[in-house]
Amino acid sequence: MLTLENIRFTYPNAGIPIFDGLSLQAERGSFVSIIGASGSGKTTLFRLLNGLEQPEAGRILIDGEPVTARKHFASYMPQQDLLFPWLTVEKNVMLPMTVQKQPAERSADKARAMLAQVGLAGWEDHYPRELSGGMRQRVSFARTLCAGGDVLLLDEPFSALDSITRISLQEWLLDQWRHLEKTILFITHDVEEAIFLSQKVLVLTGHPVTGLQEFPVPMPAERSREMLLEPQVARLKEDLIALLRSEAKAGEQYNLNESGIR
Ligand SMILES: Nc1ncnc2c1ncn2[C@@H]1O[C@H](COP(=O)(O)OP(=O)(O)OP(=O)(O)O)[C@@H](O)[C@H]1O
Ligand SMILES: [Mg+2]
Repeated sequence: MLTLENIRFTYPNAGIPIFDGLSLQAERGSFVSIIGASGSGKTTLFRLLNGLEQPEAGRILIDGEPVTARKHFASYMPQQDLLFPWLTVEKNVMLPMTVQKQPAERSADKARAMLAQVGLAGWEDHYPRELSGGMRQRVSFARTLCAGGDVLLLDEPFSALDSITRISLQEWLLDQWRHLEKTILFITHDVEEAIFLSQKVLVLTGHPVTGLQEFPVPMPAERSREMLLEPQVARLKEDLIALLRSEAKAGEQYNLNESGIR
């Protein structure tokens, strides 16, 4: 179980906090999506979770223990794929293990096994530029898995892809999640994507963000795209869109007030 309790966080020189009293819970092995207006603090939340930023107040716990005691509990897949163009696919996937100073030969074996798992056997010696966008995202995902965390933090991994590639990667990711036994936190701007993938959707609300609104997804773990048309699922989609819209409006007003224009 991953728990955030009463988190407060302010970027240096920002004056106003991004989070004030933010709490969140994700069950072990669950798939949770996070949505919220642009600039609401989604990426910042991940930066706190993987220790790139420290909260001013509050606690981040994993199974009741502070995360500071658990090295590498979370693996982060950033918003851009960030593959190194001068490294082969295999070397890119090995990178987190190289950084953790794991033996080279074992790391290479693990990278190859992981590439096979994401359907890229045979591409080990190619360079990122020779791959399609969807393949690069799978390499990036394989690299994230090789970092070894129990919690995967995926920050808009599919946002740059065309809709068909995106849909097939969503189905692929669900399939991976079912046998990986990892907890996945998934940031997206796409309400339908959030619903299709996860068991619950969390929405960042308020300025600063004081809480998350939680929406359970009324679909079983084994699911298909047709289920998105069921009335209770379609209703959830419209409710989420309405909430994001009102948050975006409140955000615009807030920014106007902040900049002194009224
Ligand atoms: N390093 C930083 N220093 C100061 N302010 C920052 C920093 N990074 C982000 N911010 C500010 O914090 C707020 C939240 O940013 P964040 O990147 O977490 O938003 P987001 O919800 O991920 O947005 P998007 O949907 O556009 O990716 C924004 O107002 C942003 O300008
Ligand atoms: Mg972001």
